[in-house]
Amino acid sequence: MICLGIESTAHTAGIGIMNEKGDVLANERDTFTTEEGGMIPRELAEHHVEKFPQVLKNAFEKAKISWGEIDCISYSAGPGMGPALSTGATLARMLSLLHNKPLVAVNHCVAHIEIGKQTTGCEDPLVVYASGGNSQIIGYETGKYRVYGETLDIGVGNLLDSFGRQMGLGFPAGPIIDKMYFEGKNYIELPYSVKGMDLNFSGVLTSAKQKIGKEDKTDLAYSLMHTGFAMLTEVTERALAHTEKKEVLLVGGVAASKALQKMIGEMCEDRGIKMFVCPVPLAIDNGAMIAWTGLIMFKKGRTTEIEKATTNQRFRTDLEKINWV
Ligand code: ATP
Ligand code: FE2
Repeated sequence: MICLGIESTAHTAGIGIMNEKGDVLANERDTFTTEEGGMIPRELAEHHVEKFPQVLKNAFEKAKISWGEIDCISYSAGPGMGPALSTGATLARMLSLLHNKPLVAVNHCVAHIEIGKQTTGCEDPLVVYASGGNSQIIGYETGKYRVYGETLDIGVGNLLDSFGRQMGLGFPAGPIIDKMYFEGKNYIELPYSVKGMDLNFSGVLTSAKQKIGKEDKTDLAYSLMHTGFAMLTEVTERALAHTEKKEVLLVGGVAASKALQKMIGEMCEDRGIKMFVCPVPLAIDNGAMIAWTGLIMFKKGRTTEIEKATTNQRFRTDLEKINWV
């Protein structure tokens, strides 16, 4: 069985093709970039519409298969930015009609989890989903991926990027700050904001921005990252105590951070918990994770009628019915 997956929630126009064994036959993408200003939804949509035909062509060339071998088409139905999301859903519907293939609407966050489980081999993890737009602590419980804690404002990656932009580090700043983390020497006090199991990053961001120019750059970058990740680590530890799960899985773009891996890794070691990290090309937004999740769902009889193959900008992780775990 082979599934083609389409990703378009934010900056990435991605097409992935995966088979039942979990082989990535193709994972092609074209990512929107900008010198300044960030992501404007309409510009993302224009980018995706322009790039998808070539990305699709590349994916088939890479996979060395034909349409006849594809069993289903899946697409990211949300969460994400409306105009960007619509391009992927429209492409999915069009391809479905053209090639007479069933459709599967996939939750983008659930796809981050499933590809992480597939590539690392963990079974029932507590998931730390840390990306630009999202930060959630998630675990499987009776038919749902429950969200135990999450950011109430911006994603942790956004915290890093936004601070970095102000510092003149360029976009994305996450990887640069991740290097600075290990060079910082002095911790500069910043507001730490955990509310119950939820997180606020905007206070620490504002405070850190105000200190730019007044404190050592490297120390400030280190302190920002340390504060944000300590908040994530605290909530993760509490969720572990509550759920008694024995594995932690890091997914999303920020999972690549050596600092995050170190901080969560040390906490896990203390508790005798095994930590898994989704490898980079599959941890960031990509089509293969959508293909893989579509394939799992399709095997469980989950298809989406073409009239209902729409999108939902606020498609929460815990809204998806999980009938395959
Ligand atoms: P989502 O739609 O799931 O919110 P996203 O659009 O933010 O995802 P991702 O590719 O999952 O996209 O994540 C990108 C984020 O990861 C950026 O904020 C970037 O700075 C951050 N990032 C990437 N590599 C590193 C790293 N080594 N250390 C810290 N942050 C990183
Ligand atoms: Fe994502």
